[in-house]
Amino acid sequence: MSRYVERNENDQLDAGTKPADPLPELQLPDPALAGNISIEQTLAQRRSIRSYSDNPLSLSNVSQILWAAQGMTMDKFFRTAPSAGALYPLEVYLIAGNVRGLDVGVYRYAPARHSLIRICDGDRRDELCKASLSQPHIRDAAAVVVIAADYSRTTVKYGTRGIRYVHIEGGCAAENICLQGMSLGIGTCVTGAFDDAKVASILNLPANEDPLLILSIGYV
Ligand SMILES: Cc1cc2nc3c(=O)[nH]c(=O)nc-3n(C[C@H](O)[C@H](O)[C@H](O)COP(=O)(O)O)c2cc1C
Repeated sequence: MSRYVERNENDQLDAGTKPADPLPELQLPDPALAGNISIEQTLAQRRSIRSYSDNPLSLSNVSQILWAAQGMTMDKFFRTAPSAGALYPLEVYLIAGNVRGLDVGVYRYAPARHSLIRICDGDRRDELCKASLSQPHIRDAAAVVVIAADYSRTTVKYGTRGIRYVHIEGGCAAENICLQGMSLGIGTCVTGAFDDAKVASILNLPANEDPLLILSIGYV
């Protein structure tokens, strides 16, 4: 049975206040709220990992990683990462290459429904690697997460100071992914060296969004 769900006009809007778009949407498995390793051990053992096994990521682990980045909590009032003024400027994209049960392609995470919206087909890891100074861990990872931002959601309230807030939030979401990955046996590497325009083009980002950082993810 297809995992893709039909949406209707009554669907809750994304927290980014985007109207539901007509692209295919995949419901993700519910995130787990308990793990096998303490937060202290996770902090002590976290490292940037740049080489990965060939094992496909499970969809439940991908779901967990995306939830850690920007999942909704507390009856959907808040998220797993803090946000200045609770304005939530971040958008999280998944570039799937080797994920069991997920076609290769680019997806946007929709926090409100804990779902993935398919943006485009095809394996984009090699292109993304080239756009990232040919750093091989981007091509070799089972999947890649790109955290993008719509600065205006925050600067409308905080002015130019909001630019700093958005960058801080990107770091918070990225660290959540690193720690969640560590607890699941998934290696991650925060990657800041890339060509913004090329990454935006590969992901087909809307004009109001800029890529902030990239994380490669794959089993160790
Ligand atoms: C903002 C930022 C940008 C980074 N950019 C890259 C990068 O482009 N390529 C890379 O391999 N690692 C990158 N890293 C990872 C660092 O190299 C890594 O965190 C550092 O060597 C310390 O190692 P550790 O993460 O294992 O503690 C980046 C880390 C941060 C925080």
